[in-house]
Amino acid sequence: MIATFPTRLVKGKKDYTQDFGAPAHAEPASRTEAMRVHRKSFCILICLTLGILQAATQAQSGSQAGDPEGHEWWQHAVFYEIYPRSFADSNNDGVGDLNGIASRLDYLKELGIDAIWISPCFPSPQVDFGYDVSDYENIDPMYGTLADFDNLASEAKERGIRIILDFVVNHTSDQHKWFLDSKSSRTSEHRDWYIWRDGKGPGQPPNNWISTFGGSAWKFDPTTNQYYYHYFYTAQPDLNWRNPAVEKAMLDTTRWWYKRGASGFRLDAVNTLFENPSLPDNPVLPGKNTQGDPNTDEKYNKKLPEIHDVMRKLRNAADESGAVLIGETWTKNVGELKEYYGAHNDELQLPMDFLFTTVDKLSPAEFRRQIAGVDAIGGWPTYVLSNHDKVRGYNRYGDGKHNDAIAKLMAALFLTLRGSPILYYGEELGMENNDPKRKEDVKDPIGRTGWPKEKGRDGERTPMQWDESENAGFSKATPWLPVPPSYKTHNVADEAKDPNSILSFYKAVIALRHTNRALLEGGYVPLNENDQNVLSYMRVYQDQMVLVSLNMSGTQQKQDFEFSKHGMSSVKPLVATGKSSAKGDVVTLEPYGVFIAQLSH
Ligand code: GLC
Repeated sequence: MIATFPTRLVKGKKDYTQDFGAPAHAEPASRTEAMRVHRKSFCILICLTLGILQAATQAQSGSQAGDPEGHEWWQHAVFYEIYPRSFADSNNDGVGDLNGIASRLDYLKELGIDAIWISPCFPSPQVDFGYDVSDYENIDPMYGTLADFDNLASEAKERGIRIILDFVVNHTSDQHKWFLDSKSSRTSEHRDWYIWRDGKGPGQPPNNWISTFGGSAWKFDPTTNQYYYHYFYTAQPDLNWRNPAVEKAMLDTTRWWYKRGASGFRLDAVNTLFENPSLPDNPVLPGKNTQGDPNTDEKYNKKLPEIHDVMRKLRNAADESGAVLIGETWTKNVGELKEYYGAHNDELQLPMDFLFTTVDKLSPAEFRRQIAGVDAIGGWPTYVLSNHDKVRGYNRYGDGKHNDAIAKLMAALFLTLRGSPILYYGEELGMENNDPKRKEDVKDPIGRTGWPKEKGRDGERTPMQWDESENAGFSKATPWLPVPPSYKTHNVADEAKDPNSILSFYKAVIALRHTNRALLEGGYVPLNENDQNVLSYMRVYQDQMVLVSLNMSGTQQKQDFEFSKHGMSSVKPLVATGKSSAKGDVVTLEPYGVFIAQLSH
């Protein structure tokens, strides 16, 4: 049990509860009222834990001290993913652009965003909406010019917002000049920049590898009578990272953008950088995937150990500019995720924890397991709830009745965990998926080939909802994807005026996390670990303690934390939803309620 609690009271913080209707001060205990009270204790050895957490937090922060505590800028940053086609359309052609983003920087600043990750905005035939790059060192005219990028970078810098670009490292477009040269002849300068092989026999690809977007991963090219390898669409040939010239060209590209003002990269599809050069068939597993192809164990073309050499080299280049590398690191378990930090913290600073997104229901037990697993591996966690490939959180967690409350609940979780959150545009409004209803409306090619099982990713990529006007204020022209009807209620203009909106809640929690050291730096201490309905934890930093209690059920919950027994005299609410509040030792949470409080002696 607890011996003592730290003593210093935290002063001078804004009382965010004013915006959310919770009492500003905890009331005295009244045990008789405590119906269905879960009598739980702080099942933690706080004093012991404090010491361990502090040592661990400092060790995880990396060797180069960014602040007196040894933290780098990216450890305190809230990141925001912008899908540029869909954020803001300045020239009214139905597709978003860089000037559109620049025009909305004040909104992002007010929301509390420190860095924007812009999904690929480079020249591209747009087969995979930018993830098929035909020139790494330019901007697609659809999005603007390099001068527009420079303007965006300087406007963002003025507001203290950094820019992270998206680096498609695994493949180029088939229209990239490297590939056009590569396919032109077997002896061309760039032939070995991609993966070319003879077929097994006439009409037979070199092996059984399957493209994740459907069909064989090999495409026959009659010009040179060989097959080229593409893990994604046929228009996305894989680069040959075993060729030092490829490595050099790609590393140089990162340096080029760092000089131009980028503060880092999100590295696309890093799992697939290398293939076993002898091309063994992958073992075939039972069943078929959504594209109708046999399931296979991709042991020979995914997650090969050579990836880590490349990550280290990219990191070296990033370190020259104090930049950050975020990884699209889909992993089966935390062991695999740990590898992406590098054995000596010399690979990715922020490998995204997609295991978190695999918890698709409001299950405290599941979240506890995921959070503890990621917390235990020693790196700085990187949480994501949604992105341009994943159905929006509003739909994944919503029950159809309490979606707004659940959106706030998930925001509270996502933004109060130890680590750096990456927020997908529009999640802060409660934007919902708008999946196509008819096959002929689908834009994302996998939605057409996989229809109706796989409807593609259009639904989560719809235009940002700025206001109630036509096309949600995104564009005066018909947008490339339709906005869902809910834009009338879930949009920036209306939500900014409503203190109880999802947007106001996001702003409050982000502001809190920027100023509260326990939330910024503190360790994660789970509480009441057997509770089936409420996820509770503390963030502990030196003598500061923040309690986070999240009701993942549709009924009111009461939690007796026995604060007084453990020497806590003050429970100061920081953010709470609705009537969620503390009275003495008992925290009452409304259905899907949130209660965040500062604890002190
Ligand atoms: C990544 C991107 C996805 C893209 C794929 C191929 O997974 O997030 O949108 O289709 O890579 O580049």
